[in-house]
Amino acid sequence: MDVDKQPLRIGLIGFGCVGQGFYDIIQQQPELGLAVTRIAVKSPSKPRTLPAERFSFHADELLDDPALDLLIEVIDDPAEAFRLVSAALRQGRRVVTANKAMLARHLPELVQLQAEFGGTLLYEAAVCGSIPIIRTLDGYFSHEPLHAVSGIFNGSSNYVLTRMTEEGSDYGPALAEAQAKGFAETDPSLDMGAFDPRSKAVILAAHAYGVFLNPDEVLNLGIEGIGAVDIAHAAVQGRKVKVVAGLYRLANGRVTALVTPQFVGPESPLYAVEQEFNGVVIEAKYADTQFLRGRGAGGHPTGSAVLADVLAIQRGFRYGYAKQAAAPEAQLTADLEVDAYVRHADAGVLREALTWLELPAKALQTDAHGAFATGPVAVQQLWAWRKELRTAGIFVARVGEVRPVAVLAPGVTKAAVLA
Ligand code: HSE
Repeated sequence: MDVDKQPLRIGLIGFGCVGQGFYDIIQQQPELGLAVTRIAVKSPSKPRTLPAERFSFHADELLDDPALDLLIEVIDDPAEAFRLVSAALRQGRRVVTANKAMLARHLPELVQLQAEFGGTLLYEAAVCGSIPIIRTLDGYFSHEPLHAVSGIFNGSSNYVLTRMTEEGSDYGPALAEAQAKGFAETDPSLDMGAFDPRSKAVILAAHAYGVFLNPDEVLNLGIEGIGAVDIAHAAVQGRKVKVVAGLYRLANGRVTALVTPQFVGPESPLYAVEQEFNGVVIEAKYADTQFLRGRGAGGHPTGSAVLADVLAIQRGFRYGYAKQAAAPEAQLTADLEVDAYVRHADAGVLREALTWLELPAKALQTDAHGAFATGPVAVQQLWAWRKELRTAGIFVARVGEVRPVAVLAPGVTKAAVLA
């Protein structure tokens, strides 16, 4: 560092897994000239790794401090994060956040605030931990049409699936391990219910396609109902169960998005993405297929993405959102279908679910573990019954890619075709 150069003065809001990971990294690299001059946390009573006098318990004090050159927001609470980040952007400040749930809900407003007040917001750490996917889509692919961006966007659920597949672990202990390692959200149902990867897919849609999706309108099915039998069922076919988040350009030019468990075969690079690693497959019109893989959760990998944003902001970098100007329409549930696998330990429960999904009763098969069925299911039906499926503990996986529903001849019903 130039001896005359002042360090960049950083206000760090939040000192959990990501905040500490970032702090630790910059302690190891003093030559970067970054100084965390103030840290705000919520709880005065929680034991910390730094002396108590290092902390403020009012994040607004950091917002009000003109001596800070940049704010990093890495707290857990999306509503409070939005209040703080939007207030900082109204001051025209430079801000880095890792809060995916907050971004997925408020991205259009946050983009608008940057345009209006001249501040900058970067958030590489919000999606796939250490993988530089936002900058890749926003910058490198800023003008290239993309057929699809899909992948494993949640480290915790992938960790649980790996432990169940490789070690035969049960779901509960595998989840407890993911929590102990600091991968899971404070509320792990966000990970296991695929709400967290849904937020990440919504954020990527803004950069891959220029589309701002409402997360509540994107189908997400999780792995809470999974059992060893489902993993074995996939394995017999030479496949693994992965939670795949996908953004797909349809033949009609629209973009669709969904996040569900999927049976993935060795032909996909996602097949080999294990533990808390994430992977993203980009299918581009001219560049063809690319694959990025890296650690999707954990203090250091996510802190590394925060650091990359801090240094990028220092250089004056901002996202371009180039595709926003000619964004396609979204088609989230209507007229789409997937080949699905559904299972429950109780055949009676599954029989009722088949009526929800408009699968014929004769699709139901029983075995020593209960009942399962496979067949084409409208995304609309999965969407309409998503809460009931979750509450009943029914495991649902995609067996193939999403596609437009088959157009039937006039007067021909789906039941007749399946009969
Ligand atoms: N809970 C998240 C995950 C953390 O498991 O992927 C990283 O966003």
